[in-house]
Amino acid sequence: VEQTYIMVKPDGVQRGLVGEIISRFERKGFKLTGLKLFQCHKELAEEHYKDLKTKSFYPTLIDYITSGPVVCMVWEGVGVVASARKLIGSTNPLQAEPGTIRGDLAVQTGRNVVHGSDSPENGKRETGRFLLLKEKKGWDLSVESGTGDLSSLAALWFKEGELCEWTPAQAPWLME
Ligand code: GTP
Ligand code: MG
Repeated sequence: VEQTYIMVKPDGVQRGLVGEIISRFERKGFKLTGLKLFQCHKELAEEHYKDLKTKSFYPTLIDYITSGPVVCMVWEGVGVVASARKLIGSTNPLQAEPGTIRGDLAVQTGRNVVHGSDSPENGKRETGRFLLLKEKKGWDLSVESGTGDLSSLAALWFKEGELCEWTPAQAPWLME
């Protein structure tokens, strides 16, 4: 089962969209396994967006993400990474389809209200799942990642003990 890291960005929190955004993932049928309000610091923002370091908008992106509290979430389910990206919509909200979060609730790329992991591997990196699995099952991180680069696998947004494993009462009504 996959995990994805979903984050309501500071504009989503300031605009009172936290409940609306959580609700979309809840109603879809995914399982919430982690949730917190959090003031992101510069070092974490830089690590999270390190692939965009060379982009011209990178400094403003770091300022944006650290400008106020964010809501950090882990959602779990079969195919949740790609499905969450569809629910979120295109990076540029003006190009995002109506019915998607960005399509319905935002107008600018630099204020696009929500983040979602772009691959199962990044889902693991961003949720800290690698560290949890390592603690519980002794998995070899370098083998699991396929890169051998352990530094890229440090848990980003959640620490051990912050995620909940549980079975929602509605589970048999969502999956046959
Ligand atoms: P995330 O889910 O937040 O990672 O968005 P994404 O995967 O749809 O886009 P990407 O990873 O390419 O970019 C990360 C974030 O950087 C975007 O969500 C925007 O907030 C910001 N960003 C990307 N491109 C631009 C841009 O051209 N201008 C500005 N101001 N911000 C940008
Ligand atoms: Mg991205």
